[in-house]
Amino acid sequence: MSKTILKVENLTKYYPLRGGLLNRKKRVIKAVDDVSFEIREGTTFGIAGESGSGKTTLCLCLARLLGTTSGRLLLEGEEYTHARSAALKRVRTRVQMVFQNPLSSLDPHMKVSSIVLEPLRAQRTPELDEDRVAGELLEKVGLSPSLAKQYPHELSGGQSQRVAIARALSVGPRLVILDEPTSALDASIQAQILNLFNSIQREFGITYLLVSHDLSVIGHMCDRIAVMYAGKIVETGTFEEVFFEPQHPYTAALLGSAHLLGGGELEEKFILRGEMPSPRKPPSGCTLHPRCPFATEVCKTEYPPLIEVGEGHLVACHNRQDVRRVLGTTS
Ligand SMILES: Nc1ncnc2c1ncn2[C@@H]1O[C@H](COP(=O)(O)OP(=O)(O)O)[C@@H](O)[C@H]1O
Ligand SMILES: [Mg+2]
Repeated sequence: MSKTILKVENLTKYYPLRGGLLNRKKRVIKAVDDVSFEIREGTTFGIAGESGSGKTTLCLCLARLLGTTSGRLLLEGEEYTHARSAALKRVRTRVQMVFQNPLSSLDPHMKVSSIVLEPLRAQRTPELDEDRVAGELLEKVGLSPSLAKQYPHELSGGQSQRVAIARALSVGPRLVILDEPTSALDASIQAQILNLFNSIQREFGITYLLVSHDLSVIGHMCDRIAVMYAGKIVETGTFEEVFFEPQHPYTAALLGSAHLLGGGELEEKFILRGEMPSPRKPPSGCTLHPRCPFATEVCKTEYPPLIEVGEGHLVACHNRQDVRRVLGTTS
């Protein structure tokens, strides 16, 4: 098995919530709450979950674009949670991020060549043959080097995202974090960009962390998957475990809503009630309980521990046996 490239230990990120004038008590939004996982080199690790579940916050913490509240981040065994100056610069050459909306992530006043070279310039790479390097980076992502002189508004959505990918690749990163990289693109362009990610991975041995609310994208791309709800990982395992033997009602509900659970009648049994609760006032016990068709009394008061149900397959649900019974996956 390949070595661990990224290790996340008990990562927590709270955003401060301003109370009223008379409310002096410090309140917080727990955007990422005690999250742990590992990613093996050369693989693609997927994170799925509805909007608001904490996926982007997690990505920004891992890329060190946002500080963490507590927990530890290790890259190839080396802690970088609080890395600064030269050490942080080194992290930037090994971890890069591609954002959801390509147009808003590209500076409209910069030419494509300056955009793709930006991370390299930040590293103060000596004797950089800029025209040649920019051209090569554009070719790597399937674009003509002649685009180097253009501005972002002259590009299509797909071309813009390719430029953002070229920028991320410029420093030769080992881990690339992709936060909903195809969500803003048309379906036909989405498939092309996903294929590009696959061919880049084959060629350069890059590791991906791929975030998507779209389970068909996750299923198409990922070796291991973590499902997040309200800041926590509720289930994690291999693609096969999460897609074909899910044990958490939230995982099953996500699969069902994407028609990946095997039929309407079964999918109906996992439909969640209402919407994700406000993070300002999270429910007691298991945060899913007000929406969960499997909730019982204990769910109202106790958050379920993340239990290993098979090697590397972890589930946090008091009633996972009921979920398996309904799905017909009990052995
Ligand atoms: N800068 C911020 N300040 C306060 N709350 C935030 C901020 N960014 C995100 N949040 C809140 O944190 C939670 C997680 O958000 P986010 O990480 O964007 O989730 P996702 O990417 O899964 O949609 C949400 O409740 C969101 O409203
Ligand atoms: Mg997001």
